Amino acid sequence: MSSAVTETEPKPIVACTIAHDLGEFGQLVETMDTELGEHWGDLNFDDAEAFLKSPESEELEFVAITVWGRDEDVLLRAATLINTVKEYDIAVILVTKDVSPAILHQLMRLGADEFIPYPIPQGALSDAIQRISRPKEVIVQKVVEVPVQMGGAQGQSQRATRNGAVFAVHGLAGGVGASTFAINLAWELSHLEKGDNPKVLLMDLDLQFGSSATYLDLPRREVVFELLSDVASMDDEVFQQALVTVDANFQVLSNPPELLPLDLLGPEDIELLIERARSNFDYVIIDMPTTLVQWSETVLDKSDVYFSLIELDLRSAQNSMRLVRALKAEDLPYEKMKYVLNKAPKFTDISGKSRVRKMAESLEIDLEVQLPEGGKQITQSNDHGLSLAQTAPKNPLRKEIQKLAQSVHEIAATDVAA
Ligand SMILES: Nc1ncnc2c1ncn2[C@@H]1O[C@H](COP(=O)(O)OP(=O)(O)O)[C@@H](O)[C@H]1O
Ligand SMILES: [Mg+2]
Repeated sequence: MSSAVTETEPKPIVACTIAHDLGEFGQLVETMDTELGEHWGDLNFDDAEAFLKSPESEELEFVAITVWGRDEDVLLRAATLINTVKEYDIAVILVTKDVSPAILHQLMRLGADEFIPYPIPQGALSDAIQRISRPKEVIVQKVVEVPVQMGGAQGQSQRATRNGAVFAVHGLAGGVGASTFAINLAWELSHLEKGDNPKVLLMDLDLQFGSSATYLDLPRREVVFELLSDVASMDDEVFQQALVTVDANFQVLSNPPELLPLDLLGPEDIELLIERARSNFDYVIIDMPTTLVQWSETVLDKSDVYFSLIELDLRSAQNSMRLVRALKAEDLPYEKMKYVLNKAPKFTDISGKSRVRKMAESLEIDLEVQLPEGGKQITQSNDHGLSLAQTAPKNPLRKEIQKLAQSVHEIAATDVAA
């Protein structure tokens, strides 16, 4: 650990304990060392506020406030401190010793994010850190702040009366995880609730190398080719016939068996397809090809949110730079574009986090939505043709996509009600 107050050589401090007498919480010191190495400091109740105000607290992600039930004065001070810490948008973990449930309840209501009992059970601090380091609700809200128009989220059942929200997903470099994200976002949106789930369509417009059929183990169908080669004469029936049903509320327009030229479709075709899809579904998720095509702009125009996936590497950085320039030069609806950083560095990976910040700064983009590395389970799940929810429900990537789907749906539903 580092002493937060007297530290002279700058080492980013991402967390602090705040204790009246840290000596009483020896195991907390060990656990913080294990989780964060050198990157944490200790404060007492008197110097906490001054530290929060100082520039050294800039990197602070959370404070662990120790509360000992038998010391009433500390309880009061902890309550005041929680308020102060929350003003700085820093997470609070309470480490409690002999605190009654009633008092704990009150402290949590004041805005503490997590609590762990002392002695700390194995893995409890690490779990709490993981939970607080997820993208926060407000961040998700920012992602979908572009007005999402949808008419059917509350479960209308008639055909062709919906007015679905459209989310495009575009990997800015090959293999950054766009299809994995698109498929699992679609799956989660169609399995949000037990009862009346929204109807979701995944449209694989990566006509040549789309992976939806593989990742969901679906047939590539000739009728899709027929539909795409004559979009102008499509009606609801032709459109429905081309879809493959994954389950009750999840259908897919996968790519056809043959390799198709990307310019088989023109902007008007894409517009017709998206409109047809919107009128039949509550959510339309479009998996885009990595290459920019003549109808990329049409999709950007028609979508409520355009998710651009990148990884923390030079390829992604350079491609994003080119895309940002192109969008700005053409005066395209840049605000719909939301960057998603896949395989983002962990909370405790300080140098990784600073690379993320530098990348965001140099590209002048927000990198608020970050998806964790999910390990081998992700590729295995894709190879088995199943969603992450079915094969690896506890995988951190799955949990993050699930949470994003929930927030997107809540916001969309509120918009409909309003
Ligand atoms: N967050 C992640 N953690 C681990 N593996 C991932 C993650 N996202 C994607 N992958 C894997 O990376 C590979 C490329 O993903 P894919 O979704 O096909 O990318 P894209 O559509 O951008 O080409 C796949 O093998 C997939 O399983
Ligand atoms: Mg793909």
